[in-house]
Amino acid sequence: MDYLKITGGTKLSGSVQISGAKNSALPIIAATILSDKEVVLKNLPNVVDIRTLLKLIGMLGGTVEHNETVAEINNGTMNSTKAVYEIVSQMRASILVLGPLLARFGECEVSLPGGCAIGQRPIDLHLKAMESMGAKIEIKGGYVRAEAPNGLQGAKIVFDKITVGGTENTLMAAALAHGTTTIVNAAKEPEIVQLCDMLSDAGVKIKGTGTSEIIIEGTGQKPLIFKEVEIIPDRIEAGTYLCAAAITNSTITLEKVNATHIEASIDKLENMGCSFEIDGSNITINGTNRLNPVSLVTTEYPGFPTDMQAQFMAVATMAIGESVIEERLFENRFMHVSELNRLGADIWLKGSVAAIRPVAQLHGADVMATDLRASSALVLAGLVAQGTTNVRRIYHLDRGYDNLEGKLSALGAKIERLSE
Ligand code: UD1
Repeated sequence: MDYLKITGGTKLSGSVQISGAKNSALPIIAATILSDKEVVLKNLPNVVDIRTLLKLIGMLGGTVEHNETVAEINNGTMNSTKAVYEIVSQMRASILVLGPLLARFGECEVSLPGGCAIGQRPIDLHLKAMESMGAKIEIKGGYVRAEAPNGLQGAKIVFDKITVGGTENTLMAAALAHGTTTIVNAAKEPEIVQLCDMLSDAGVKIKGTGTSEIIIEGTGQKPLIFKEVEIIPDRIEAGTYLCAAAITNSTITLEKVNATHIEASIDKLENMGCSFEIDGSNITINGTNRLNPVSLVTTEYPGFPTDMQAQFMAVATMAIGESVIEERLFENRFMHVSELNRLGADIWLKGSVAAIRPVAQLHGADVMATDLRASSALVLAGLVAQGTTNVRRIYHLDRGYDNLEGKLSALGAKIERLSE
């Protein structure tokens, strides 16, 4: 199995190019199911999750040509509506095929994704939305079986809780439904906006993009013809490199990034004493040798993202006072705490709140990645820990970070991928 060996204590310098957003690319790949013509996707990140979803599209009968950052997908050949356990169990986001398959073919079977390391992560809100649009849903043998033989009907869907995946599934379903769908309490993430833009560019009438109420006029099962889509920059990857500069007190430049999408992270790092220069799609961050403590609560966009919580916790270990981080979205997203403590951090947990006390120095050790973003927090800590840190189980990292060790090495970090 691969692991990363990091020798801490090196400053970073230079520029790093940010890849396309995994969390935007996934719903966009799923949305291609709404078309029976070729769709070209560009600026895809070269990560395992993207390959997993493209494999699923292939298993459903779609034709996929993929090379690193570009995919040409033609779902005119799609001849199956069953998303099997083998794929869905590898990646929860496979549930995103539910809405488009049901909308286009009037039926589908999708394996239940189950829980994951960061919490239970139910899909009840996705299913309720499909039911509101007239689908019959049955759960049997570990699969969700959904049917709407005469197509989905537009409806008013009020989400009890803001859900990114639930909003995406509903948007895609609504695009081919009969009549108008209104989503109330919709998610507002940039990834949702890009999906709405893709659907609008294909002629679907959408009002309220980027707001909490989205109104979609469906095409009545008429497949869509999509224009080429260029995936937006990955705001979580960008935030992770900002944290890499902050924790090592370095100056680096991020290229191809959307500063608006990472305002929450920039704001917190400014409060911690870092400074920024923003020039179009380039952001330069200057670190500081006296990081102030941070206080943050994870919440929905445009608030502070849960996907940046672990990385900020790593940075907070180097602050000059006690930091407090509250996780509000996922009940078990603190698995990195004990691993960071293995590196010498002093973090205390009570329920969903972590207190991070200052320590003079982290020390290298063997640590284990537990989920995608937790893994990157351990890498960040390794960059400043004295001696060698080996981060194991990095298959989590490979799911969502495009060439992390290559990009960090190019910035001057001592990091290498080894096999054991
Ligand atoms: C997406 C992101 C993930 C990010 C998360 C929150 C992708 C592929 N993944 O995940 O990186 O951490 O948003 O920003 O884009 N919930 C329910 N019932 C449901 C659906 C969700 O109770 O049917 C709950 C979840 O357990 C969680 C909260 O709602 O507590 C938010 O989850 P959601 O926004 O749906 O996250 P994902 O779309 O799975």
